[in-house]
Amino acid sequence: MKIIFHGHSCLELQLKEDTLFIDPFITGNPSAKITKDDIKKCDYIILTHGHADHYGDTDFLAKKFDATVLATFELAVYIAKKGIKTHELNLGGGFNFPFGRVKLTLAHHSSSTPDGTYVGEPAGVVVTADEKTIYHAGDTSLFEGMKIIGDTNKIDYAFLPIGDNYTMGIDDAVKATELLNPEYVVPVHYNTFDLIKADVEQFKRKVESIGKKCLIVKPGESIDC
Ligand code: NI
Ligand code: MN
Repeated sequence: MKIIFHGHSCLELQLKEDTLFIDPFITGNPSAKITKDDIKKCDYIILTHGHADHYGDTDFLAKKFDATVLATFELAVYIAKKGIKTHELNLGGGFNFPFGRVKLTLAHHSSSTPDGTYVGEPAGVVVTADEKTIYHAGDTSLFEGMKIIGDTNKIDYAFLPIGDNYTMGIDDAVKATELLNPEYVVPVHYNTFDLIKADVEQFKRKVESIGKKCLIVKPGESIDC
């Protein structure tokens, strides 16, 4: 699997057969090193919630590539009305797709679409494919249930927001790393905008002080695993 970080919370997972995007916020994302037109393959899109900095280019990519959008029930219904293929899931529910398994987990945040439509609960997501397990927390506060997510999944890479203001800040994300116990934590959702500036080196030092490994991936960089 190759995981490309496009800045903010946007991940591109290049699997053996399929390419998945999680929260495909490219247009309007000041950290992105590509434009939406640079994307050559997109089979599935996973949305953690409806906010514009996550929903991003979902409509464009889904229509261009005839991709299927995976989202919580209310968000999937909203998207399906645009003539886009969807697969609805809900919190705690997983499904075995041709490429691997996707399970939605709790996230404590809110969820409305760019046009202001309220679309139910936000989610985190566990993707297991090509013998690797990725956890993308979505936008969330710290919560005790992260311990259960860590106990029930052997997480290789946990992508956690550290930018504060809208989500966990550094100290809460360090605590989350302890609860989730991933092989590596990768900080996301910081420095995209002034409101979410964070000292990522400080996060890394704090993670290492509890005996965990932190991988800082810059926008445009990737992880081969
Ligand atoms: Ni949000
Ligand atoms: Mn966000």
